[in-house]
Amino acid sequence: MTVACEYRPGLEGIPATQSSISYVDGQNGILEYRGINIEELAQSSTFIETAYLLIWGGLPTEDELEEFKHEIQFHRRLKYRIRDMMKCFPESGHPMDALQACAAALGLFYSRRALDDPAYIRAAVVRLLAKIPTMVAAFQLMRKGNDPIQPRDDLGYSANFLYMLTERVPDPLAAHIFDVCLTLHAEHTINASTFSAMVTASTLTDPYAVIASAVGTLAGPLHGGASEEVILMLEEIGSVANVEPYVDQCMERRSKIMGFGHRVYKVKDPRATILQRMAEQMFEQFGSDHYYDIAVKLEQVVADRMGSKGIYPNVDFYSGLVYRKLGIPTDLYTPVFAIARVAGWLAHWKEQLNENRIFRPTQIYTGTHSVPFVPLEKRHSAQDRDMYANLITP
Ligand code: ACO
Repeated sequence: MTVACEYRPGLEGIPATQSSISYVDGQNGILEYRGINIEELAQSSTFIETAYLLIWGGLPTEDELEEFKHEIQFHRRLKYRIRDMMKCFPESGHPMDALQACAAALGLFYSRRALDDPAYIRAAVVRLLAKIPTMVAAFQLMRKGNDPIQPRDDLGYSANFLYMLTERVPDPLAAHIFDVCLTLHAEHTINASTFSAMVTASTLTDPYAVIASAVGTLAGPLHGGASEEVILMLEEIGSVANVEPYVDQCMERRSKIMGFGHRVYKVKDPRATILQRMAEQMFEQFGSDHYYDIAVKLEQVVADRMGSKGIYPNVDFYSGLVYRKLGIPTDLYTPVFAIARVAGWLAHWKEQLNENRIFRPTQIYTGTHSVPFVPLEKRHSAQDRDMYANLITP
């Protein structure tokens, strides 16, 4: 097969699909969902309304939104067998691994696969949006040795999640800020986890496998795992005075500074700007956090030293500080990201099904040909094997 274009590691800049779900202008720091600016959605929408917009393609009417919210509320509980399965998970396991296992397990319980039936699609969308937060909260309580608590019908999506997680009804400002965080993380074009969801979807497998594969991809430290790493990094830096030596050391070792840099954004990520504003609002209302002073100094030093390379804070830089103030444990930051991103993954799953062709890229082979098989008795060591192979390779 002939190669259509040059190879680019990480497929940088190579279109993998055509999509009308979201748009990023990395030079000017613009993000839009279905054409609506993220600033506007953060200001005026809710996460569930935004999820509807992403998945069904337009803003809902009042009745449509009510119905969607009601369906989600109705499906928030977990089957007792899923809870029993979770009881067998080791408490020391990472919550992203627990979430991936639970998302995949949904496929066992809802095994009918009818991808051309709109009712099936709707049910899968509702179930995944409804149950993923309950799974994250249940794992948190169970690993502490407690029983998970049931969702409360009088609480909205975000307030209910914080309630199930902390066993306390959250302050309305905290619930609102968390909801905005979900909106900001809901979708972001063809990033690694979305691409993974699309590849899985393209085989026409069930939506639970699609979401499980995306959760596994999001878990890595170069993707959704970075917000957790940011807090560990701020902990390691420890003080404002240590910021410059820390950055110097990273530059010397050529190691990455977590929460900075982006494949697409070459300016500050617009979501980081909104999250920083929300972090400040949280500190004003609920007390300051000295990690924020370290973060602000870090942003300034990185901008001075690496700004010319387009390295600025990404979405993960300030989100951890907001979650920390909300009392969310550090290793739940990525599962919280997953709760939000399920909306985007589902939107891409639906879009993929509309015009599906299985993903099957090509490769540039860099190996050799016609290598003789070396009999086992001649392979006493790796060196022998290579020598023998070299001797008789034409
Ligand atoms: N700290 C220091 N230098 C950086 C950083 C960083 N965080 N990010 C990029 N660079 C430098 C690289 O060292 C490289 O420099 P060089 O050209 O002199 O070798 C250059 O910028 C390009 O970096 P790449 O790693 O090639 O950029 P890529 O587009 O492949 O990676 C990524 C983007 C993975 C986000 C990268 O910036 C990174 O690892 N950041 C830290 C992890 C992180 O915060 N991830 C969250 C991303 S947002 C999200 O997924 C939700």
